[in-house]
Amino acid sequence: MRDTVNECIKYIRKITDFVPDVAMILGSGLGGYTRQMEEVICSIPYSRIPGFPVSTVSGHAGKFVMGYLKGVPVIFMDGRVHYYEGYAPEDVVLPVRVMRAMGAKVLFLTNAAGGINEEYTPGSLVVLRDHVSLYVPNPLIGKNDPDEGVRFPDMTEVYDRALRRIITNCASAKDIPVSEGVYCQLSGPSYETPFEIMILSRLGVDLVGMSTVMEAITGRHLGMKVCGISLVTNMAAGINTEPLSHDEVKKAGKDSSEYFAALVTDSLCAIKQHLDAESQE
Ligand code: HPA
Repeated sequence: MRDTVNECIKYIRKITDFVPDVAMILGSGLGGYTRQMEEVICSIPYSRIPGFPVSTVSGHAGKFVMGYLKGVPVIFMDGRVHYYEGYAPEDVVLPVRVMRAMGAKVLFLTNAAGGINEEYTPGSLVVLRDHVSLYVPNPLIGKNDPDEGVRFPDMTEVYDRALRRIITNCASAKDIPVSEGVYCQLSGPSYETPFEIMILSRLGVDLVGMSTVMEAITGRHLGMKVCGISLVTNMAAGINTEPLSHDEVKKAGKDSSEYFAALVTDSLCAIKQHLDAESQE
């Protein structure tokens, strides 16, 4: 695995010596977000990077975009790699390793999710407080490289408390309602059955989706500070009666993209200030 990361880095470093502070993964419907950058240093399609998994889902562009957003050095994954596409778990999280190796200290995850908590409505934004994964393998299974992280990494606080507070404060300052919730990753690609959602609901899960947890585990393993925001694009199966469709998920992503983008931008700036303040301590 380390060799694959090194190959990717070797290729990227031939193109740019850019060092990001934040690595951000853009979920469904947030693809256009990279247009908010004032300076794009470079954009590298995953297909050009040796050994890199390539995203195949419509609505997922599949490239790294790096540069500055309000002065914050960020690398974006414009299109993520999903387990349900058939990739091995280590391939799903390879991009996180690569972004860490480039220098990113924070992993900022975004996703589209189904709302289980009945206080949500399509368009709700939820800051991730914790997660659970079911029927999805742990991405750290296999040989551990002690230079990357410990064999048994602690997951008591996967989603960094200070970053969660920063995002929540940015939301209040803009009058954007947010709450904190627990996200469950299932494998997909089929959406859940109403019975599966009822079980998750009884377990206290707030949101369901097909990504994020594997990436968050890897980020923590590598010592990154991790945070995440889910956009509720639909209520999960059986919570209301309509059948689920990917078009609905993409449409809700588009409809909410303005205030989601506003929150993400403010949060990025505040996170950068937090990192700078910490490094001066
Ligand atoms: N289930 C799983 N993944 C999803 C959903 C859902 O209802 N909505 C958006 N991504």
